[in-house]
Amino acid sequence: MTITLVRLDPTGPDRAALVDFMTRNEFPFHMQTSPTREQVEASIAEGAFRDEDNDSFWVEHDELGRVGFFRLEDLTDGAPLFDLRLDAPFRGRGLGREILRAAADHVFTTMPEVIRFEGQTREDNIAMRKTFLRCGWIKEAHYRQGWPVEGGDPVASVAYGLLRQDWESGRTTTFLWEDLEV
Ligand SMILES: CC(C)(COP(=O)(O)OP(=O)(O)OC[C@H]1O[C@@H](n2cnc3c(N)ncnc32)[C@H](O)[C@@H]1OP(=O)(O)O)[C@@H](O)C(=O)NCCC(=O)NCCS
Repeated sequence: MTITLVRLDPTGPDRAALVDFMTRNEFPFHMQTSPTREQVEASIAEGAFRDEDNDSFWVEHDELGRVGFFRLEDLTDGAPLFDLRLDAPFRGRGLGREILRAAADHVFTTMPEVIRFEGQTREDNIAMRKTFLRCGWIKEAHYRQGWPVEGGDPVASVAYGLLRQDWESGRTTTFLWEDLEV
């Protein structure tokens, strides 16, 4: 299986496909679970898919074709974050972990100054959290009640990280979570 990230042009040839992808899928663990056309178009206009902080890609699978969308965020911060969204028919098949590995390869290969790659998700997004663990990322923060939920109680936001040194060595280094005694 080969995954390729193909840079997309959100204001040019990829605009219609991007709006279609975002509006025909549901994203139960995102702030906007069912983005409307107006919301996606506003995000495009604001540069949320491509500006100095963001860059977006189609996720292409060598046998299945286009399986999803991937965005790098916080690019000027030195430690990029990401947003990964599989097209609904391709969820639940273990593709996420191949894509996350390809994403880390992309980041650490094309951005020599980056030493950390970061990701964040809701505590109840078990598929994403297991994907992080399967790919050797480690949990670095658990922000209790940090994720507002419309019409419900807030849930925790959980942060994971991957170091360049771990990507290079293939080994996951860890740290002592409670490193101070009181
Ligand atoms: C999150 C996402 C990228 C995960 O990729 P995926 O390929 O669909 O992941 P899978 O469903 O194969 O699940 C990964 C693992 O979690 C497990 N899992 C999934 N849901 C689970 C649940 N509710 N309870 C227990 N385990 C669960 C799977 O069994 C699998 O385990 P394995 O590694 O032992 O095989 C994908 O589902 C997606 O795009 N979802 C919508 C958008 C989203 O939430 N993106 C994350 C924002 S960063």
